Amino acid sequence: MAPFSPRPLLALALVVALAGCSAGSPRGDGSSTASPAATLPAPGPVVLTSSRPADVVPAPIHLSPADAHVETSRGAPRYALQWPTLAQAPALTKALASRAGAWRDEFLTGAGGKRPAAPELHVRWEPVVHAGSLHGVRLVSRPSTSGAATRETTVYGDGDASWSSEDLVAEKSRQSLLKAVSQAVAHESHENGAESLTPSRALSDVSFTSTGDMVVNLSHGLTGPAPRSGLSARISDPQRYLSARGRQVRAAMTRPVDAAPTTPVPRPAHTTDCTRAKCIALTFDDGPGPFTSAILDALEKAKARASFFMIGSAITTDPGIVRRMAAAGMGVGNHTWSHPQVTALTPDQVTGEITRQSSAVAAATGHEPFAVRPPYGAFTRSTPHAGLPFVLWDVDTEDWKNLDPTRTTQRALSGAHPGAIVLMHDIHPSTAKALPGIIAALQKQGYTLVTVDELLPGMDPSGSYYSAG
Ligand code: NI
Repeated sequence: MAPFSPRPLLALALVVALAGCSAGSPRGDGSSTASPAATLPAPGPVVLTSSRPADVVPAPIHLSPADAHVETSRGAPRYALQWPTLAQAPALTKALASRAGAWRDEFLTGAGGKRPAAPELHVRWEPVVHAGSLHGVRLVSRPSTSGAATRETTVYGDGDASWSSEDLVAEKSRQSLLKAVSQAVAHESHENGAESLTPSRALSDVSFTSTGDMVVNLSHGLTGPAPRSGLSARISDPQRYLSARGRQVRAAMTRPVDAAPTTPVPRPAHTTDCTRAKCIALTFDDGPGPFTSAILDALEKAKARASFFMIGSAITTDPGIVRRMAAAGMGVGNHTWSHPQVTALTPDQVTGEITRQSSAVAAATGHEPFAVRPPYGAFTRSTPHAGLPFVLWDVDTEDWKNLDPTRTTQRALSGAHPGAIVLMHDIHPSTAKALPGIIAALQKQGYTLVTVDELLPGMDPSGSYYSAG
């Protein structure tokens, strides 16, 4: 910053946008001053109260269940940790194991001798970037109870090197970046000084959009009176802050947006008459993820069908797998854009969450999703349906909780009955491992595995369905 240039605060272009709205152009035009463009300070961060911007788009990583590391407790206190084994990035694999292990130890001992904030700890991961041997992986610690904080950190690696999100920012630029972000947050929250950034955590989850903007996830980098989940700062033209590693990751994540028009996927018509056949509908939530292709392999091999309730932001990372689902006659469903608890949102926000996901499905397949499953199964009578029926479940395998193929199988088979809708998640390797056995056992018992719309033809768009019998 030149010594006599205007204070950055005065030039900050601040926009507060909700998910579904345009993120706006953070570039500004500097029109508030008459200074020549060359002496204007660089534009400041834009603070977003949305979850991650849609254009933080990772390349998909498909894994077989054997490539994932899973560590679960036996008995209380319960925890389940997952991270990927990445053959091309052994140092990153090791770094992920160490982060997950540190969260586990912190959970077990309790921070400062206090009891754990949540009775169970679940750590899962999602790809952030995959370009050649360069990988970025976000570890997410989700509490099992509301009120406990979600923690997220993104770690990068390439071969024998691995580095943290903080390493993407040049050491000499960290304070100026934090100051600019901090001022933007204070401005956004209209409570100057009520919140402050904790530098050690503020740069723990840094990534880039497809247009090269830097995104700093601030969910847990702030101390303040209100929960700030989903808060992030978006910094356009971030080159001045970046280290060599930062420039490398930014180059890998920046790419032209694929605007190719979608040819609608031909969908095979299935007309199982479930008033005669013994039908059951397996359903998979929260994907698509690294194990979705293994799950589709198992279904297709057994000539079985299932339904997938997908998160919109995850679809944008892997539209190809959604096309594959549609072409294979699977049920393609809506699990909102960003998986919020919709009862905490305004009706407009709920509608936005549903329709934004539907648009992602339509962009990938040429078809709209057939139904919505509200995250956590949480909704009220006044929750908008956005024109789609709600599909819940009546058999819960608790696969997300047990992460154990044997227990998942037991729960699926003991709950099975004609007309059942069975809840599973295609983001867990244990579920992918269990599935071939579950399908074989059900087929042996005479079940036809169908999609939910085969099980419940002619659903009412304002209705909510748990089973067909
Ligand atoms: Ni879910």
